[in-house]
Amino acid sequence: MRVIYQISELRALRRELPGVFGLVPTMGALHAGHASLIRRARAECDHVGVSIFVNPAQFAPGEDLAKYPRVLEKDLALLESLAVDVVWTPTPEIMYPAGYQTWIAVENISAPLEGAIRPGHFRGVATVVAKLFNAFTPDIAYFGQKDAQQAAVLRRMTLDLNFPVKIAVCPTVREGDGLALSSRNAYLNPNERQAATVLYRALVAAKEKFDAGERSAEILRSVMRAVIAAEPLANAQYVSVADPDTLEELLEIRDQALLSLAVRIGNTRLIDNFLLISAPPATAFPSP
Ligand code: PAJ
Repeated sequence: MRVIYQISELRALRRELPGVFGLVPTMGALHAGHASLIRRARAECDHVGVSIFVNPAQFAPGEDLAKYPRVLEKDLALLESLAVDVVWTPTPEIMYPAGYQTWIAVENISAPLEGAIRPGHFRGVATVVAKLFNAFTPDIAYFGQKDAQQAAVLRRMTLDLNFPVKIAVCPTVREGDGLALSSRNAYLNPNERQAATVLYRALVAAKEKFDAGERSAEILRSVMRAVIAAEPLANAQYVSVADPDTLEELLEIRDQALLSLAVRIGNTRLIDNFLLISAPPATAFPSP
């Protein structure tokens, strides 16, 4: 495994790696969610690259940029065990040299949900991922369903800017009690950790209603709100039932819907989502 800082070194190494190249962008503090993306890339690609970069451009002033966990040695040991070929760990000065002024805005899809609460967040994400695509020139890039809006924004950007990159979205990895793995779970104290299962419980409650035939988006939103309201340590920032591609809020669910929510548990902000897909109607004349 090669660990690289300079972009020129990365480009030189990349030219020597033939075949299908898979990229897994991360901010480090790696957990089993990241590992699942890397394992899938390892299974599908000839060579695998991982970036570790806590991207200042996607944190607003007052967010957790300074206290975001940084554990490079531990991350590199995990990446070595996963047989990653190349790791790029640029500094902020390499990524955003003095005088930097070029930004990518994926407009409508970045506006609601996370974008409404974290203005500028997706501009930072889209810009850094475009720069990672330019640096690694991957064939396939792997992202987690855990950050569903991020995946939707990056899919749109890839289409709009004609990046020759396939976007692969991998299922959310969870703890035994349903809490989605996140580097930010490390901020939770034991009581908050217990309360944090409320996101999963709210999603399960809404999915059960949906599976029982409910198609009113507002009823599913109120089911999620009620579960969160019953948890004293939790404060809902949003609950949403939206079109998975455009992220526009739905009135009524037809084929698919993205249930998503952001909840504050103490000072920690957590997000989660489920993709709901209607079962196809049973055919009146089943084929023999
Ligand atoms: P980070 O939070 O480190 O996540 C890196 C990737 O891991 C993302 O695609 C994220 O969706 C995925 N991931 C996180 N938790 C997961 C889980 N429990 N199950 C499955 N996948 C999970 O997302 C970012 O970094 C940054 O915004 C980045 C894309 C690297 C740009 O800076």
